[in-house]
Amino acid sequence: MAAALAEVGVAAEAAVYSEEFADEVRDQLLGVDGVLVWVDPVTGSRDRAQLDRLLRDVSGAGVWVSAHPDVIARMGTKEVLYRTRSLGWGSDVQLYRTAEEFKRSFPATLASGPRVLKQYRGNGGIGVWKVGVAGDDQSAGNDPVVKVQSARSRDGAAEQVALSAFMDRAEKYFGYNGGEGRLIDQAFQPLITQGIVRCYLVKAEVVGFSRQYPPDVAPECVFGLPSAKTMFGPDEASFARLRRSMEEEWVPGLQELVGVDYGSLPALWDADFLFAAKDPEGADSYVLSEINVSAVAPFPAPALPKLARAVAAAPSAR
Ligand SMILES: Nc1ncnc2c1ncn2[C@@H]1O[C@H](COP(=O)(O)OP(=O)(O)OP(=O)(O)O)[C@@H](O)[C@H]1O
Ligand SMILES: [Mg+2]
Repeated sequence: MAAALAEVGVAAEAAVYSEEFADEVRDQLLGVDGVLVWVDPVTGSRDRAQLDRLLRDVSGAGVWVSAHPDVIARMGTKEVLYRTRSLGWGSDVQLYRTAEEFKRSFPATLASGPRVLKQYRGNGGIGVWKVGVAGDDQSAGNDPVVKVQSARSRDGAAEQVALSAFMDRAEKYFGYNGGEGRLIDQAFQPLITQGIVRCYLVKAEVVGFSRQYPPDVAPECVFGLPSAKTMFGPDEASFARLRRSMEEEWVPGLQELVGVDYGSLPALWDADFLFAAKDPEGADSYVLSEINVSAVAPFPAPALPKLARAVAAAPSAR
């Protein structure tokens, strides 16, 4: 990254962050023109609350920040699945802002088929759960036994528990994010058995893809962290249609729906896609699974010079 930046005349320095020495990092960031940030939304028991305050401060002082915390909130949390559900990448998605709303509405949604619940902000499958009525028995009233699987487990292990007990347990997610936590409820996509496609972007331009295959478990157990990524450049023929949909329709649609203009688009971000049933012409169709903005690494090598040029072109108020 530093070498790619040097190529376009930008000198880079590293800034290692932790809450213990946040003030030192603040001083360092106030001395530069811009900052590219890679920090996960959740690390152990910590979230980005303190870092986001720091980044807002340095941005307010005229330092260019990518991605700005406000931009992450608009397009990089799981709520984006709900806000953009009308786009071609959309799916059946519900949003619960309070525990009461969740407990009132989730049983009926679940009765329509298995669901995936996602906490508002997370990574590495933390707080992502597949929930389905056990044995497909829809006759158990409004407190059926459900089968619950974590996206963190790679072995397909599932637990059976009463729906009411599971919902009590999930209430904690509403207390996260400074009490502003949410749950996003997306229909389970059975073609997760084909793995996922990650599409990488610099601003509004697709700069590459990665392909991941599911863990080696029985097809009915496939859910959660997939295999290592195989990287592809932006011109990979098998993703040409996905690239066109992204650049021509979905990214402009996203920008409009969540209110992010070109200048505020992250220097680097990605969108994960699950496969949906093929369209009538036999071409692949895709459903958005999530957008990552906080910490996109690794990414395909051809993205580097484009990312560097986006940094060089960034406005700095200083
Ligand atoms: N609707 C769905 N249907 C089937 N599987 C899903 C669905 N949504 C998510 N998954 C599975 O759960 C995994 C984690 O979900 P997601 O990518 O939304 O969370 P994350 O914690 O932000 O992950 P990452 O660290 O990759 O950013 C996905 O890789 C996929 O295997
Ligand atoms: Mg993610």
